[in-house]
Order: sequence, then structure tokens, then C-alpha cells
Amino acid sequence: MIFDGLSDVPELRIGELRDLIAHHNDRYHRRDEPEIPDADFDALVAELRRLENEHPDLVSADSPTQSVGASPTGLFEPVAHRVKMMSLDNAFDDEEVAAWAERLARALGRNSVDDLLFSVEPKVDGVAVSVTYDHGVFVQAATRGDGTTGEDITANVATIAAIPKQLDSACAPFPAVLEVRGEVYLPTLAFAEMNERQRSAGAKAFVNPRNAAAGSLRQKDPAVTAIRPLSFWGYQVGYIEGVSAGSVFDAATHAQTLTALALGGIPVSKEIGIVRGVAAVLAHISELEQRRHDLGYDIDGVVIKLDDLDLRDRAGQTSRAPRWAIARKLPPEERSTLLKSIEVSIGRTGRATPYAVLDPIFVGGSTVEFATLHNQDQVIAKDVRPGEQVIVHKAGDVIPEIVGPLTSTGKRPASWMFPTECPACAGPLVRLDGESDTYCVNLDCPAQRIQRLSHFASRAALDIEGLGEKNIERLVAAELVTDVADLFDLSIDQIAGLEGLGDVSATNLVTSITQAKAQPLSRLLVGLGIRHVGPTTARDLARAFGTFEALREASIEALAAVEGVGPVIAESLQRFFANDSNAVVLDRLSMAGVPAAEESSKLGDDGILPLAGRSIVVTGAVEGYSRDGAKEAIERAGGKATGSVSAKTFCVVVGEAPGASKLSKAESLGIPMVPANAFAQLLATGDLPNTT
Ligand code: IVH
Repeated sequence: MIFDGLSDVPELRIGELRDLIAHHNDRYHRRDEPEIPDADFDALVAELRRLENEHPDLVSADSPTQSVGASPTGLFEPVAHRVKMMSLDNAFDDEEVAAWAERLARALGRNSVDDLLFSVEPKVDGVAVSVTYDHGVFVQAATRGDGTTGEDITANVATIAAIPKQLDSACAPFPAVLEVRGEVYLPTLAFAEMNERQRSAGAKAFVNPRNAAAGSLRQKDPAVTAIRPLSFWGYQVGYIEGVSAGSVFDAATHAQTLTALALGGIPVSKEIGIVRGVAAVLAHISELEQRRHDLGYDIDGVVIKLDDLDLRDRAGQTSRAPRWAIARKLPPEERSTLLKSIEVSIGRTGRATPYAVLDPIFVGGSTVEFATLHNQDQVIAKDVRPGEQVIVHKAGDVIPEIVGPLTSTGKRPASWMFPTECPACAGPLVRLDGESDTYCVNLDCPAQRIQRLSHFASRAALDIEGLGEKNIERLVAAELVTDVADLFDLSIDQIAGLEGLGDVSATNLVTSITQAKAQPLSRLLVGLGIRHVGPTTARDLARAFGTFEALREASIEALAAVEGVGPVIAESLQRFFANDSNAVVLDRLSMAGVPAAEESSKLGDDGILPLAGRSIVVTGAVEGYSRDGAKEAIERAGGKATGSVSAKTFCVVVGEAPGASKLSKAESLGIPMVPANAFAQLLATGDLPNTT
């Protein structure tokens, strides 16, 4: 970790941390060019806070733990905030949120937090902005700055269509002065499109939506801001003056304030929930966390606020943050770590893919040690170099991505060069003109062979238990196997005695290879690794032709006529079947009795598949099925396995550790929920279990 203390002496380390934090505050708030991910910054602040707690005598008023943001850049006119724009304290898990709520209740003289109302809202990852209306007319906008003084960005904010220039008369009579606070942000899609335009114009892409939004607001020329698709969520009234009696702005609660803002035409997020007690707060946080990637904008946390405005006044604030609110940070999706090396892996087609070997780092909910770098151009474009710190991004289930190097000022290590020789067979690696991929062109390359065989034996294909990459390497090294048909000729005697394989494992392996013959045709098709033929296409083909022989003999027209196939896949299939060496392997497979099974599609008595025309959602783990396995089982029974619950969903199968948002959606739509132990019955009959 680059932030390792140079010093173990608390006084010195505190000084070091304050300097580092001041430096990164400047990069983030004034220059819109952060050098480190937010989570790394939070770690620095947390360390400083811990040391200051342990050594209260070392706390000073100018410590970054006592202040907000950074002072203005001087690029715009200063604006003095009528009421200080505060920051928020952070909580990193549910326990810290619960502890905060209990502290708050105690400070307010309550016995329990359960009768307190809280607002739970997305912590939008954008730029805090204050927008002032004079008798309903937009007159000024300012950044937060150091909380006391911000910068006048009126001309730029005036270009944001989502911010009304005149409040809607629905909220009239207008207050004499209304200062709305909220977050200017870039919606996810708009950000992607904007970056696409930047790239095609040869300009530098923005690192993330927050930076792009901040940079867009800090333009000297408002015409530049105007073409950036910025938007706004209002979340607070900062200052108000001249409120008539009975006005919608005469609010006693946060909820009433938000309603008044919405009536005035200020965008207010629909995701804000007003809930009672800690359990409901935690449930809403978890719901927002699960839907984090479906909101249409980046969030880096969830803000929890006391709803009652009088109670807020009583709770008070510290120099930098109110006591009546807290930010629950969500697990970071970006962290920095050491790029130890860049290696190249050879796929079953010979494609040489560079990948990053990292110092393991916890990001996006799991520990990441490897990340693909896709191809040579990507490594060059990202300019990542072994021996340096890099930023790793991982969002939910998406594969981890290397964003780029942490910008460093010192001397950099040498750039990485794409190898010219295959790491597996030492044959040449070739990149053709106009192509982005590099290939090992040696058909005898053991790495390609091992990958082809691994794919054949993989879960999505013939699912041969015990035939993982390690054992395949052993079989290939012993020259017992060169192609997939060889697997079916293996005997126990041949295998037993190979390194790591005794009599028992050899017997088990031969048994599972024999059992694999009974897999349906579609799995064989997947296993052959024919270009463009994935599980869905394979099933369509298997259902349409029934047998392997019929499929191999089919004309290109007949193939293309299958629903979901089309000319490109048809051509790929025909090219595969027409290849002489493929034909030899396929003939040998047929002789060995592969596949023995017809495509299994159990028809009901009426000739219709049990789940025909039905959409089913599986949430949580169902015993005996992998995630793909459950999906496949539903499809084999004629149903459609979908990822999200809608009014069209037939039922939701509820496994272990189900998704809370799916359950609540199903409940609100009245969709039947089927326990995991009734899944088999559902597949076989299409009937919902009897519920009482
Ligand atoms: S309330 C005194 N609500 O988070 C309360 N802030 O780390 C001040 N933010 O400066 C803010 N979404 O830029 C609040 N729903 C929300 C928010 C939110 C994002 C930002 C805001 C603030 C920062 C504090």
C-alpha cells in the first residue's frame, strides 16, 4: 500500500497524514483530478481520525478531520454561504449506523430509536451545489468550497435544464429567498455517451461521472457546460426567508421540505424513503445497495437523516458535520493496488490475452487478484506498468477492470512489451494488420489444447466432474489426450499412476467421462466451442434437429432458418462441420456414443412443455443447482429464466440468501413465491405448490 507510514511516531504520522489529505483534497475539490480512489482517501482520513482519538492532545483546529472540502480556486467570484454547507460523518457498516442512531436518540432524551422517523436517501456521487431563488426566480448558484465560502457558478448552472429558472407556481407563494442544496450529477448513460464522444474526437476520456460533472461545472465558458448532460437532485433547504403562513415551505419535517421542493419543480429523487426505527433504516439501505447499479446514476453511499426539523436543531452539529445525519458508505468499487506483473494467457482459439497480476485487493464485494487487460492496444492506452500502483474498478458481478495507473510524479518503471513468443509453446505470437488481437498460431500449442479440453469438460458443456485444468494438463503431458474424442478412449489403467491420480480418482474420472455421454446434444455443441454457438443457440439447434447426425448434414439454409440462428451462425457451423480434422473428431465421438441422449424436453400430456410461456425468477441459491444450472433447467422445461421481477413473472423461486429487492417487488406485485424445495415439482409439472 502506498500510504504506509514513513513514521511510526504518532506526532509525525499525524503530520504526514494531514499533508497527504490536504494534497488529495486539493486534487479532488479544486482541480477535479483525484489521484487516488475515494476509498483510499477515506482510509487516510479514518487512520488520522483514529490517531487523533488516541492522542486528543494532538488534535488541531486546522486538521482535515475538522474542516470541509477545500478553499476556493480563485477561478470564480467568491460567494459567502448564509448558512455553512456542511459535510457528513461516515459509517462503514450497519453496526455503525445503528450506534449512531442510538447515540442520537439518547442525546434527544429518547428511550428508544424506534419511534424516530428517518429519511434514507441515495448519496449521489456528484458535486454539492447551492441554488438560490429570489421570489421564485433563479438568481445564483455556488459550489460548497470550504463550507463557508464557495464559488459563483451561476452562469454554468443556468445551463442545466433540470434546474428550473422560475419555480413552479404550485409551490407559491414563493419565499423571498430560497436556497436549495443538492447534487449536480451526470447520469450513467449520459456519461458513457459523453465519453464516447470524447474518445471519437481524440480527446481524453473522463475517469468517472463525478469528475466529469465537477469539471463541467468549473468551465470558464458556460457554452461548454451547456453541452454536458448534467442533471440535479435537490435534497435540502439551506436557507429560507420570507415564508408566508400556510406556505408549503412552512415545513416541520424533511419530508414536507422535499414535497415543497418537488412542487416548485426542483428534481427530488424518487428513491428517498421516510422510515421509522433502525431496522427499517437498515432494510432501506440494503435495498438501495442492491439496486445501486439500476438507479441510473452513481451513488457512493446512503445518507440517513432525522426527519423532524426541530429535533435536528436540538441534535446540533460539530464544526464540519451535523449530528442528525450520517453517510453510510457502500463497499468501494474502486481501489488502488500494486500491479505485480502482466502475463499472457492463451485461449482455446490461440488468442493471447494479457492480464494483470495484482496484489490481492478487496473491491466491489470480493478479493481481486487478476484482471484482464483484453489486448495490446488496451495495455498501451491504459499505460499501466508493472511495479506501479493501479486503480482497480469492480462493480457488482461485473468482471474487474483496470482503470489506469495512479498518477505519480516520480520516475516510472519501463512500459510493458507484448511478448513475441507464446508462453506455452514458445511459438510466434502474431498480430495481423488491422486486428486488435494477437494469436499463437501453432495448432499444436498445448495451452490451446488444454483450453479446448477444459471448455469441453466445463460446467456449461459436458460438465465432467474431476476433469479440471490440472488433470487435463496431466493427461496432455502424458500424451494420452490430444483432442476431445480421446477422452472417451481413456482407461483406468492408463490414468492411475499419473501424478496426483490414484486408483480411486482414476476410476471416478473414467466413470464421470462415461456418464457425460448421456448429456444432451446442446451441451456437446457448447463443448465443441463452435464460434458464435453459446448455450441458447445450442439448445435452439438441438431442438430443431434432434440428433447430431441431422445437424451435421443440415444445409446452410436449414441452419439459418432456425429461430435465433441466422446466416452468420449458420456459416460458422457449416465451416466447423466441413473442416476435415473436425469431421474426424466428430465421427470418433459418434462412434463412442456421444451424445447418447436426445435433447431432453419433457413434454406434458398435452404435448406442451410444463413451463411453456412462463417467466420465472430465481433468487438466492437453490440446492443442487448452480445459477446457470437453475436457468437451464427452467429453459429445458420450456420456461424463460429472467433476472428481474415484473408483473409478467409467473413465480419467484426463493433459495438461500435471496435478494431483498426481488422479494419485496414480488410481494408488492402479488407474484407467487415458491420455496426452493418445490423447484423440482415446478419444473416437472409447471404447477405451483399448494399454499395455505
Ligand atoms: S445532505 C448537512 N444528502 O454528500 C447535510 N448530502 O459527504 C449535507 N450528498 O456535501 C448534505 N447526496 O455533496 C446530503 N442525499 C444527500 C446527498 C448528499 C450526496 C453529498 C453532498 C455532501 C456530501 C457529504
